[in-house]
Amino acid sequence: MGRGVGSMKTIIEPFRIKSVEPIRMTTVAERREVLTKCHYNLFAIPSRDVLIDLLTDSGVAAMSAAQWAAIMRGDESYAGSPSFERFEAAVKALMPFKHVIPTHQGRAAEAILFSLLGGAGRVIPSNTHFDTTRGNIEASGAEAVDLLVPGGADPNCIAPFKGNMDLARLADLLRREGPRVPCVMMTITNNAGGGQPASLANIKAVAELAHAHGKPFIIDGCRFAENAWFVKVREPGQAARSIPDIVRDIFSCADGMTMSAKKDAFGNIGGWLALNDDEMAAGARARLILTEGFPTYGGLAGRDLEALAQGLTEIVDEDYLRYRIRANEYVVERLVASGVPVVLPAGGHAVFLDAKQALPHISPLQYPGQALAVALYEEGGVRSCEIGSVMFGKWKDGGEVAAAQELVRLAMPRRVYTQSHADYVIETIVSVYERREKLRGYKIVWQPSALRHFTARFEQLP
Ligand SMILES: Cc1ncc(COP(=O)(O)O)c(C=O)c1O
Repeated sequence: MGRGVGSMKTIIEPFRIKSVEPIRMTTVAERREVLTKCHYNLFAIPSRDVLIDLLTDSGVAAMSAAQWAAIMRGDESYAGSPSFERFEAAVKALMPFKHVIPTHQGRAAEAILFSLLGGAGRVIPSNTHFDTTRGNIEASGAEAVDLLVPGGADPNCIAPFKGNMDLARLADLLRREGPRVPCVMMTITNNAGGGQPASLANIKAVAELAHAHGKPFIIDGCRFAENAWFVKVREPGQAARSIPDIVRDIFSCADGMTMSAKKDAFGNIGGWLALNDDEMAAGARARLILTEGFPTYGGLAGRDLEALAQGLTEIVDEDYLRYRIRANEYVVERLVASGVPVVLPAGGHAVFLDAKQALPHISPLQYPGQALAVALYEEGGVRSCEIGSVMFGKWKDGGEVAAAQELVRLAMPRRVYTQSHADYVIETIVSVYERREKLRGYKIVWQPSALRHFTARFEQLP
């Protein structure tokens, strides 16, 4: 993946490939037909018609030989499975919480947490809540508040920790609304912007502030290893520390965490809620039994717990993380060299293209992000995701209001694609960019009442 700063040789994928999945090659003409059939909605495209699938980094990792071997060891006992013991030990080795409660994925952990901490009249701050976190908070009747540092959402602001919490605004909220705040949260890395990290100093300062006000501090830790890598390489004084050491430092200042193990645990499914407080954990387990399953499996099979336990030992490997973070940097560097507008710096799990800058002739309500994402699929069979007015446009006073940004996200599955795949993606983006003046906008001809990006139908404008 290119040489990287200060490195003498190319940073290679630190694995060999033992089992492969074929990619079905298609032509531009075939992809045009697919697009028409799917009404230009990329979520409607069958994955067999996609060459490089960068729709998400969630649940799509390649498992290791050791994970597949661990799966065979899975003990499917309803209660007290040794697979749970191994899973619990692997989590506690990195995140020293007293109670570890497995769930089928991250949002299930969130639903349980906010059944305890949410409720009408409450306010829950974070650097930026992920959509499902916000959704679960709002479904409980509480209000989700994002307090990202200034510049954190600006695609052109280059800073090492664009996922930091704005401490002044958090202090102000706690002072003004203290009694209404049941906990303080932080998402690491911040999914918005492609995985911008938070610094260890910022995480510790947030924990101190929360504790000074008597509030539990909860981390959404989906991409904890990627965040720890950024801390190691970007934060003064952290370079000599091991990744597990940094991870333990991060989580030992928290009172709990939610986790989607579909990200930094190399799982195809899974999650957990971890807590220190005995009473809260008892409440969470009571809820878990109602909605997920018995506390030693919680919505997962024993074999899934085994895969996650093994995945957690692999995700903190420095050779893996060096390659992982370098892969996105490499794509971003090459795109910048070709003049393609991107969000800077590269995030941990995704590359974002700035469609507003790339396609100024398509107005926001003609969905430039959608136009760019459709063109990438047509050109090279690359599936990405619009993060702009299709996803976040709002209705106000009978009219549609555009989102603040028009982005296209290329999320990178873990250990799935190689450098030649990355080169192919770059070539596809650059080819589309070179004929950008010819791209046309879209109109929505059908949409559901909520979350329209998943199922809306589009028509190309003349
Ligand atoms: C930061 C963050 N939190 C929570 C979730 C929800 O996890 P899951 O998809 O496993 O329910 C995600 C998923 O993308 C995420 O990125």
